[in-house]
Amino acid sequence: MIDTHAHIDDEQYAPELETFIQRQKNAGVEAILVPGVNLSSLLTVPAVCDLFPGYCYPAIGLHPEEVKGTDEQIQSVLQQLRDALSTRPWIAIGEIGLDYHFDITYKEQQQFVFRTQLDWAIERDLPVMIHSRDATEDCLRILKEYTPKGLRGVMHCFSGSAEVAKIITGMGLYLGIGGVITFKNAKLADNIAAIPLSKILLETDAPYLAPVPYRGQRNESSYMHFVALRLAQVYQTTVEDIKNVTTINAKNLFQL
Ligand code: NI
Repeated sequence: MIDTHAHIDDEQYAPELETFIQRQKNAGVEAILVPGVNLSSLLTVPAVCDLFPGYCYPAIGLHPEEVKGTDEQIQSVLQQLRDALSTRPWIAIGEIGLDYHFDITYKEQQQFVFRTQLDWAIERDLPVMIHSRDATEDCLRILKEYTPKGLRGVMHCFSGSAEVAKIITGMGLYLGIGGVITFKNAKLADNIAAIPLSKILLETDAPYLAPVPYRGQRNESSYMHFVALRLAQVYQTTVEDIKNVTTINAKNLFQL
């Protein structure tokens, strides 16, 4: 298994990072991809990943909920991220996207920042990790402009409709599936049933969204086993097949 989205730079993992990583390895997790969300991530994400080279891989990006302030301030943040792009290898640009859930004050700015980072992804031929919440229409419209230019990526923590799943994978993008698929009332399993397994990636979004039977607790990559179990039911195959295919998918997208 490969965890394509885990915030293990979160300070709650710090006291036991070595044993934490060993536990993931023992559970069959081959690699963990760590997204960035803001300028602080430029320090915390590489710091964690450099402790486990060849196992943890850093991504760089400005999360839509982190887009705030004056236009000058936003430009300054983007400039610092752009400068950092050249300082070391990054596995992806993410997490980036649109989030209108709590606040639409910066809707226009979010779209500008999203586009700017999609441009970087095209320029550098890097995949993207996309975050979209309550912004499906705008997100799809923007992605439709970029996928013909060669944009590659994953819709992280996908929980949309069957129709949206089809549109996203039809653009060549992957769906990142995590703990939500194990939640009792989630229709996610039905919504992705018609999507080929070749377009599915495993992820946790740790420390959030732990699957049943750990729902509500701190998430970790080893718990993806329970996501894989649910996917095995959806695709009527074995859990080993789910783990193998999603691992190959992640290796393909992120060129691991
Ligand atoms: Ni995330």
